[in-house]
Amino acid sequence: MVTQLESKVTQSSQCLSETLKMLRTQVLLLFCLARATNAIYKQWIPDTNYENKTNWDKGDVPCGNDRVHFSSQSKVSVFVETMHAVQEILLPINGEFILNPGAGFYVVSGQDPSCGGGVTTNFKDSDSLQWFNPALWQTAATQNDLHQGNFLFSVHEESVPCQNDEVIFKALSSFRSDTSCSQSTIPVKSVSVLGKTFDDRSEFSRYLSSHSGQLQFHGSSAVTVGNPSCEDSTGCVCENSVHHQLICSTVTCASLSCKNPLLPVGHCCEVCGAIITIDYAENFNLQHYRDRIRHLFLILPQYKSIQLGMSKVLKPRPLMRLIPFGTSREIQVVIVDGDMGKLSNTLAQDIIKDAKSHGSELGITKAEIQGSTESNSAMVVGVVFAVLLMIAFIVILVVLNRKGVVQMPAMPSMPSLSLFRRSPDVEDINGDIDCGFDNPMFDGCDMPSALPGLYDSNAISLTRTGVHFINPVYDEQIGSSCSPGTPTCTQKKTQHNTVRLSTNHDIIM
Ligand SMILES: *[C@@H]1O[C@H](CO)[C@@H](O)[C@H](O)[C@H]1NC(C)=O
Repeated sequence: MVTQLESKVTQSSQCLSETLKMLRTQVLLLFCLARATNAIYKQWIPDTNYENKTNWDKGDVPCGNDRVHFSSQSKVSVFVETMHAVQEILLPINGEFILNPGAGFYVVSGQDPSCGGGVTTNFKDSDSLQWFNPALWQTAATQNDLHQGNFLFSVHEESVPCQNDEVIFKALSSFRSDTSCSQSTIPVKSVSVLGKTFDDRSEFSRYLSSHSGQLQFHGSSAVTVGNPSCEDSTGCVCENSVHHQLICSTVTCASLSCKNPLLPVGHCCEVCGAIITIDYAENFNLQHYRDRIRHLFLILPQYKSIQLGMSKVLKPRPLMRLIPFGTSREIQVVIVDGDMGKLSNTLAQDIIKDAKSHGSELGITKAEIQGSTESNSAMVVGVVFAVLLMIAFIVILVVLNRKGVVQMPAMPSMPSLSLFRRSPDVEDINGDIDCGFDNPMFDGCDMPSALPGLYDSNAISLTRTGVHFINPVYDEQIGSSCSPGTPTCTQKKTQHNTVRLSTNHDIIM
């Protein structure tokens, strides 16, 4: 007998086979588009599901002989997937059950032989679980990867949803997350709750003020959706550094065994491993490069224990000739192996080798390694691929020209070759190359007075004629992740009954 239960039944329209087909192609299309814009998915791990035994203080889901207690003060939205036998339930004053179709409670008369002697089991409190705790999120590049458990490693700041991210709360589950922080809003691209994706700001704000919304999201700040996705194929900076202290307050750093631990940008703890810092050109594609590293190296058995995170970060700039202070956007690759960092260093060298031979088609202009295995302070290996390529190209051209094999076309302002006879000053040329790729961070390009006359734009155009092709392997890869069978009709599943409990310790008997 259930007393004073206000029940609300929300039913979404049924997916008919015809509309399902249409929806499928639309979902497919959306999926491909999302993929093209470097989308990142962040999924909240904990749930407040009745069936999850970690939510019960006895470590087990209560059965027919057990008494089930929810603390009267607990504000919780509990998802119930199936039918459960109980002896009694003590309900909270303010809470709700979200019942999956077919879910519910019943009381067994007498003893349930498949259940133990009968205990009192309490539902654990989830008030303390914070949105800004990086341990409570999983990151993946696609929704399919989320389902298959292909998670991405990221630095602590980026483990928490960034402003361009798609936030997922698992479809058949409920949750409770404390969104308190120093800002009034937490902007993200979209939020999925119970299989429904919100990307309209006002619609989600209505959801937040609903009964379910208030139980699921609590705290001083409001999550807002509708932020654009990352449109820059070279990647977007996760602007969570404003929350650095809050994020790191939830993290306990492990003790390290290596000589020179490294501190990656955006991470709370020093790590034993390697960091590669990459300067990129406009044809760099973060998503493709991440896939490339995964398929070339991370799937190899010797790199099984490796964790690799790759993202665009704002790196503080050391004193330089033209721009004394500020930050630059760089791709940071963090490699951790859970040991002394030796394996990370081997992988980092492999990645550098690959970048050296494919730098120009990958859009990599420079890469540096920092390793934690060296005994002296972090070794820096600068590799200037584009420069080498350009020098080689010019040298060949000059040699062929001298031998009369190739007639040089009339180039009005070909730079004096004495520049290259003079010992090639890598640093100087490097600055020039970066300008050639239109790197916005090298503001020097906009100041003609800062460039010596020798750095003629014709010299740059030579590098621009360099190798440029699209690797078919990675195109195929995009194709395959858009293959049929990956997206599902999630609308189908959102048929739940919400039972709202505005009762004072009601007892179901
Ligand atoms: C149960 O909850 C734990 C911790 O909150 C989570 O890691 C786990 O994935 C959940 N189990 C299932 C089956 O969802």
